[in-house]
Amino acid sequence: MAKKRRVYECQACGFKSSKWMGKCTNCGVWDSFLELSDEQIEISKKIENSSKNPKAYPITKIKEDKIERFSTFDTELDLVLGGGIVPGSLVLIGGSPGVGKSTLLLKMCANLAKNGKKVLYVSAEESQGQIKLRANRIEANEDNLYLLSEIKLENILVELSNQNYELLVIDSIQTIYTEEITSAPGTVSQVRAVTFELMRVAKSTKTSIFIIGHITKDGSIAGPRVLEHMVDTVLYFEGDSSKDIRILRGFKNRFGSISEVGIFEMTKVGLVSAKDISGKFFSKKKRQAGSAITVVMEGSRPLVIEVQALVSESGYANPKRSATGFDSNRLTMLLALLEKKLELPFNQYDVFVNISGGIKIGETAADLAVIAAILSSFRNRPLNSETIFLGEVGLTGDIREVQMLDNRLKEAASQGFKKAIVPSKPIENNLLKCFVVDEVSKIIEWM
Ligand SMILES: Nc1ncnc2c1ncn2[C@@H]1O[C@H](COP(=O)(O)OP(=O)(O)OP(=O)(O)O)[C@@H](O)[C@H]1O
Ligand SMILES: [Mg+2]
Repeated sequence: MAKKRRVYECQACGFKSSKWMGKCTNCGVWDSFLELSDEQIEISKKIENSSKNPKAYPITKIKEDKIERFSTFDTELDLVLGGGIVPGSLVLIGGSPGVGKSTLLLKMCANLAKNGKKVLYVSAEESQGQIKLRANRIEANEDNLYLLSEIKLENILVELSNQNYELLVIDSIQTIYTEEITSAPGTVSQVRAVTFELMRVAKSTKTSIFIIGHITKDGSIAGPRVLEHMVDTVLYFEGDSSKDIRILRGFKNRFGSISEVGIFEMTKVGLVSAKDISGKFFSKKKRQAGSAITVVMEGSRPLVIEVQALVSESGYANPKRSATGFDSNRLTMLLALLEKKLELPFNQYDVFVNISGGIKIGETAADLAVIAAILSSFRNRPLNSETIFLGEVGLTGDIREVQMLDNRLKEAASQGFKKAIVPSKPIENNLLKCFVVDEVSKIIEWM
């Protein structure tokens, strides 16, 4: 008799192996391998093969799909989605617990229902009564909005086929299971099979489907990375749930750009598009030592933000470096540069950097502000309250140009700033007084 072929799968990333491993060689997670049953192997093969189209056509003979988006009636959400919802698309929204995923989608459903779309909101986490409570609070009671509290995929699909819903929300993908597979909800096999079925339904019935996914501490969708590959659009919620501002960022979008972000504010009546976004990410009070202001670009929008740094004497041989909202490798690089160019003994100090408002900086234009905040904390001397810092710092200590300098300066001026330390003179005559600094050691003159 032929020996049975065993297949083990990492429950974190979906990596398969013929041997059990203590640590996944693909994603590095410990103790995540489970043996797949025959039926699970069969289903995963089916999913892998399904995308193989046996018939090829010349591209010149193929008619393009017409994309007709519909609005969510929420300007910020439309912006991140690339202009609205595409019928038949599958959108994944991830975010940490309590960030507002259910709130945002329930309100979106209500807005669509109010405007004549028939919408089904499926919750596997909360009872209908619980959702009703939220709906009362955020004013989401609409006749065309239907609630279903269900964890079995087959029952959801029956409800979907009985009525012609145009939009379906699944809250959350980790709590739904399909009968076809015996493993527990939330495992890679379950999530993959459920998502695959939802994808098929979305494409064949042109129903748009939004699925909510929990994320792990390191920020990826809990369990399966495979999920991100399967869906059309992936959006992540960022923000500190203890603060009011939330940012919805596009991570992948098959129907649009991912350069724009949506900015929301959590209020008593739910998440609302932040009207006056500028001015919410920095303190307008007098600057304290360790605080510097810069302007970052979020998509096409400039945002004035505050960089905070704390430099304190270290009691350890290996001083601590920690960055929240800023790349920690970049922080280490900037500190090494300060040590070399300004001969400051940072090897004896712990350094902490934080970007206020829960923003994550993904660009290098804030380097100069990070340096300014560190030096201000180190010397215990506040910076000028009316000055902003812009510039990328190179490994040689030179300060490099930043993109969209004029846009950034204009925004800073509208927020009442008067002076800017910049790497190059702006093209337009600006309302701010600009001082060009081309070398990191010269920054000390402006401290
Ligand atoms: N009465 C209220 N007033 C203001 N904000 C509230 C109120 N009730 C709840 N919230 C906010 O809503 C958040 C919870 O939102 P929601 O349930 O949509 O989050 P979630 O991302 O779906 O969480 P989970 O992952 O637990 O499902 C709370 O963290 C809080 O910030
Ligand atoms: Mg929720």
